[in-house]
Amino acid sequence: IRCQSTSTKEPKAKRNLLDNASNLLTNFLSGGSLGSMPVAEGAVSDLFGRPLFFSLYDWFLQHGSVYKLAFGPKAFVVVSDPIVVKHILRENAFSFDKGVLADILEPIMGKGLIPADLDTWKQRRRVIAPGFHALYLEAMVKVFTDCTGRTTEKFEKLLDGECSRGGDAIELDLEAEFSSLALDIIGLGVFNYDFGSVTKESPVIQAVYGTLFEAEHRSTFYIPYWKIPLARWVVPRQRKFHNDLKIINDCLDGLIRNAKDSRQEADVEKLQQRDYLNIKDASVLRFLVDMRGADVDDCQLRDDLMTMLIAGHETTAAVLTWAVFLLAQNPSKIRKAQAEVDSVLGQERPTFESIKKLEYIRLIVVESLRLYPQPPLLIRRALEEVVLPGGYKGDKDGYIIPAGTDIFISVQKESEGIEGWAGLDPSRSPGALYPNEIISDFAFLPFGGGPRKCVGDQFALMESTVALAMLLQKFDVELRGSPESVELVTGATIHTKNGLWCKLKRRPNGH
Ligand code: HEM
Repeated sequence: IRCQSTSTKEPKAKRNLLDNASNLLTNFLSGGSLGSMPVAEGAVSDLFGRPLFFSLYDWFLQHGSVYKLAFGPKAFVVVSDPIVVKHILRENAFSFDKGVLADILEPIMGKGLIPADLDTWKQRRRVIAPGFHALYLEAMVKVFTDCTGRTTEKFEKLLDGECSRGGDAIELDLEAEFSSLALDIIGLGVFNYDFGSVTKESPVIQAVYGTLFEAEHRSTFYIPYWKIPLARWVVPRQRKFHNDLKIINDCLDGLIRNAKDSRQEADVEKLQQRDYLNIKDASVLRFLVDMRGADVDDCQLRDDLMTMLIAGHETTAAVLTWAVFLLAQNPSKIRKAQAEVDSVLGQERPTFESIKKLEYIRLIVVESLRLYPQPPLLIRRALEEVVLPGGYKGDKDGYIIPAGTDIFISVQKESEGIEGWAGLDPSRSPGALYPNEIISDFAFLPFGGGPRKCVGDQFALMESTVALAMLLQKFDVELRGSPESVELVTGATIHTKNGLWCKLKRRPNGH
């Protein structure tokens, strides 16, 4: 069966507990109508014993690239076949919403792009995506280099202290450092707010981490405990979450007020002429307020900013964490990367132009995304009946997916190690700086695909390239313990259980 379903559905009303219960029931009852789809029986230990995406991969080897995963009465369809993935993400994008993901994120991101219903999404995507144009990205390179410069200066000061005590290396949790760096960058890039988290603590920073922590926790639970009546007032952890959310929202509201009050026609003209180099504040917020006038709805703007803050923070930090994890096990690759940095940058900071020449560094960033995809799963729920195409590894005939079916798109791909995959050969992506879903025909989905693809992909790739290049320009990095001791934990992103503890030394050649 090969057929396309193209119609779109009205956005769903907010779900409550009752809707969730009825969804469970629909899934249970609809299980049989998935025809001859292979079934993987999940055990609770699969959910909590190890990262789910490992189990999904094992089941993929066992059951093929489209299978049903049953956890008691709850069933998900798990898809990793590129043809089927393309059918869902691109060709029938509007037959799906974000399902479980929206249930989890809506209390935090409201009607921001990630959880948004289709109507809101269509309006906001049109407004937000143009904010990430090439000149904006060019202006952002300075933000990336300035912020990374603060991080490397901090490491140098720590090394100076260590040298004065006779040592030559410092031990650092680089995951935590990358998290601070990515927070500072996203704050400046999206709303021109300097969290300064590389060097200080503040209630807003604590609140951002608290909110992220709760979002992670929710994403690993399949029962929406946060919707239990009165939970937000009675359960201490929920009370804290709502306090954290209020702190961030107050901060964002202040920034929005400020952006609206300081809106000047001269800046609007500069923006219209795309005169980014002469503009003091090149942030996405400035763009949204200046280009759309002062009448943009504050609540929607706040949801948009919150979404970008969360979407762009831990993801990029995780990419850097796993890039360093991969590199630190491969001294020869570090040397190769450093040789490239030395020849392209010397002692200079990266620029928009020189990033293009950092080919090997870019491949390491992409390799990190391939082996440690952020997020490791894409989530959808069918809004109407959809017929999936028969994939190249699965059945010849496709499956009928009833409305309400929850789908996991499993993004992780086989094979290990840097340069382990021919898809990362730069000659196979002519004209593109980074391999993507178009070049790989949906086999590699670092930023999703179709209309709901990440809006910050180029921002994040350049940011990671700059940060990695500047780190390797100055330091040699080694893991403190064995690679096996770095345990994985997954939620919205893949991170380590106890930090990425590394030894950092100044490079011997005086860089
Ligand atoms: C969506 C990954 C950085 C903003 C997505 C999606 C993925 C993704 C896979 C698609 C989700 C889906 O289809 O369900 C990443 C990774 C990043 C990153 C791996 C870093 C390496 C950023 C940054 C921003 C951002 C820096 C903003 C500044 C968004 C937004 C969406 C999104 C707004 C929703 C797009 C829509 O539905 O229209 N991201 N992202 N992301 N990302 Fe990113």
